[in-house]
Amino acid sequence: MGALHGILHKCLKNMALNLFGPESLKKMLPEVEQAACRNLKRWSSHESVELKEASASGRKKAMRMLKNQLKERREKPSEQQSDFFDYVLEELERADTILTEEIALDLMFVLLFASFETTSLAITMATKFLLENPLALKELAEEHEEILRRRENSDSGFTWKEYKSMKFTFQLINETVRMANIAPGIFRKILEDIKFQGYTIPAGWFVMVCPPAVHLNPAKYKDPLQFNPKRWEGMELTGASKHFMAFGGGMRFCLGTDFAKVQMAVFLHCLVTKYRWKTIKGGEIVRTPGLTFPNGFHVQFSEKNEFKQDAAVKK
Ligand code: HEM
Repeated sequence: MGALHGILHKCLKNMALNLFGPESLKKMLPEVEQAACRNLKRWSSHESVELKEASASGRKKAMRMLKNQLKERREKPSEQQSDFFDYVLEELERADTILTEEIALDLMFVLLFASFETTSLAITMATKFLLENPLALKELAEEHEEILRRRENSDSGFTWKEYKSMKFTFQLINETVRMANIAPGIFRKILEDIKFQGYTIPAGWFVMVCPPAVHLNPAKYKDPLQFNPKRWEGMELTGASKHFMAFGGGMRFCLGTDFAKVQMAVFLHCLVTKYRWKTIKGGEIVRTPGLTFPNGFHVQFSEKNEFKQDAAVKK
């Protein structure tokens, strides 16, 4: 992504805005909820699941799939509501476009990769932090149970208003990404000589910003290794600052921030209202420097109702 400049960068931004802008996110909410509930239900029927499955077979397979889907859609346009493939096809047909099919597929892959790798890690880490911090779990569950209580019908889907109301959930998400440090480094090329604390960084050099150094700075975050969502009380929870750059910052601020937050919040909602979970094995973290789980993270999910039924049977 960092290598994209000028017009291609603009293309990527337009694509991402089209797909993950606020209006699209509102429409996407029921779909995200269904996907989260469906996955959790499926997982709860297994002995255990590896939460952060390796995505090593990555790129080749995904590119083939994207190419086939684009071909299929070209031959047979979708009859339902238009989606991202329609947007790309429309863009490709415009007379003044600089997109070729190859570039479009590349950009689609970049978006897929940027969204898949990062969000799955963030969700995995949130699940782990909740296991390790029962008080945070309790407060999160209370916030989400309150949402259900306020509804006329507890099964009616998640609304945008409810999503926006979840104060503790957003604090927990920020705390998760602060400690997860999913992006271990952010690179910038120096375009003009910069003077910094008596040094000159010459044009042409690269600078690596190290978000973990910022996020674990005890001068800004008291007991920085302590998972404490409440530390965000009264603090700005959107955007970036020199003390918080989990989603980058400036011109290259993550285009998927809101989408990632929607996915995390909705997943957490389904998780804490319907399930219990425990570690079966793994869960240890190694940073290489990216965040990895060398022994996987095997978790067992069970529906809360099942627990109640089990307890009743035992009684
Ligand atoms: C928890 C989840 C996520 C984290 C922690 C994260 C983190 C980041 C970071 C640190 C950057 C800045 C990179 C830089 O400055 O060089 C970035 C950029 C970007 N992210 Fe994310 N991201 C997440 C989710 C997503 C999702 C869901 C998408 C889906 C569209 C996405 C798409 C992008 C794109 C396209 C850029 C490049 C922006 C640009 O260059 O203008 N990210 N992300």
